[in-house]
Amino acid sequence: MAYAAFRSIGAYAPSKILTNEELSAMVDTSDDWITKRTGIKERRIAAKDETTSDMGVKAALKALERSGIEKSEIDMVICATISPDYFCMPSTAAIIATKLGIKNATAFDISAACTGFVYILSIAKAFIESGMKRNILIIGAEKLSAITDYTDRGTCILFGDGAGAAVISATEDKDEAIIDVHTGADGEYADLLMTPNGGSGSAHDALEGEAAGCFMQMKGNETFKVAVRTLTKDVVDILATNNIASSEIKHFVPHQANYRIIKAVGDALELKEEQVVLTVHKYGNTSGASIPMAINEIYENGKLLKGELMLLDAFGGGLTWGSALVPFSPLK
Ligand code: UT7
Repeated sequence: MAYAAFRSIGAYAPSKILTNEELSAMVDTSDDWITKRTGIKERRIAAKDETTSDMGVKAALKALERSGIEKSEIDMVICATISPDYFCMPSTAAIIATKLGIKNATAFDISAACTGFVYILSIAKAFIESGMKRNILIIGAEKLSAITDYTDRGTCILFGDGAGAAVISATEDKDEAIIDVHTGADGEYADLLMTPNGGSGSAHDALEGEAAGCFMQMKGNETFKVAVRTLTKDVVDILATNNIASSEIKHFVPHQANYRIIKAVGDALELKEEQVVLTVHKYGNTSGASIPMAINEIYENGKLLKGELMLLDAFGGGLTWGSALVPFSPLK
């Protein structure tokens, strides 16, 4: 049987930094409030002409180069994004594949908001284990600045831009394999976090002037409470299902939405500070890109070594949630 192995990671963050001080000049907020309530100090903003696929390509090039797998061997490209180059079509994954020179691979996007990377990991795992594909490039890429309302202090302080990518490939060695991925969704909570305009469910004509703006709206406090509850249950479940103790986790890589959420889940698992990966202070919430950007951070700092076990955990619009137990299994 083929198993799916997490071979490599790459990420890209735009160079422009938007600080809390700069946001304080745009809306009624302060560095002190943002830092205390979220842990965020700054976030990255893509250039006006820089697209989600541009960022995805930069992250993917690093992941490919580090994977030891040739572009010509990639047989599937999946992109998790809520800020695609174009709404509806073509998919950002197809654009990324073409920009990378990957030919004849299956390519598609998925919409699971901040849980997107865990979702595409589960899809890659399933395709590889079924024998249908052998080498899959997965990308979480977001230009959230394009769908952020910079007059709404409840959301604009949170989000940033960036991309992360990983190569998942087939192995016969069970020790290298992704152990488990759990995913779930509940549309009952759809209104907690949504982009209400622009789609067929919108009260406005999608092409009608201002109404075409697809800005995110969030009921932050309610989302916060559901996030802590759901994430904690999710990680406890996946560890119990696989008979793994939280002390065996080398790197807990949560979705980087809010330091207080991360701390609450980490405390529930009795994790030590050094087990918890944090990038929220420098990148804010980059939705589908946040987990791979965080994995890349520990990789580039020399802290992610072959065989080490990661626990991924995410929560986002939909609502969606997911967790994964993933050993790092580089080929080189
Ligand atoms: O990534 C996917 C999922 N998303 C999340 O997980 C995000 C979850 N939510 C959060 O991170 C937090 O709810 C926020 C950071 C968005 C808000 O923090 P909070 O502690 O839940 O604040 P709150 O919404 O309960 O608001 C408390 C007060 C309110 O004022 P009053 O009514 O007490 O006078 C808000 O109007 O803080 C006010 N407020 C702000 N003040 C300064 C809200 N946003 C701001 C702001 N600056 N940016």
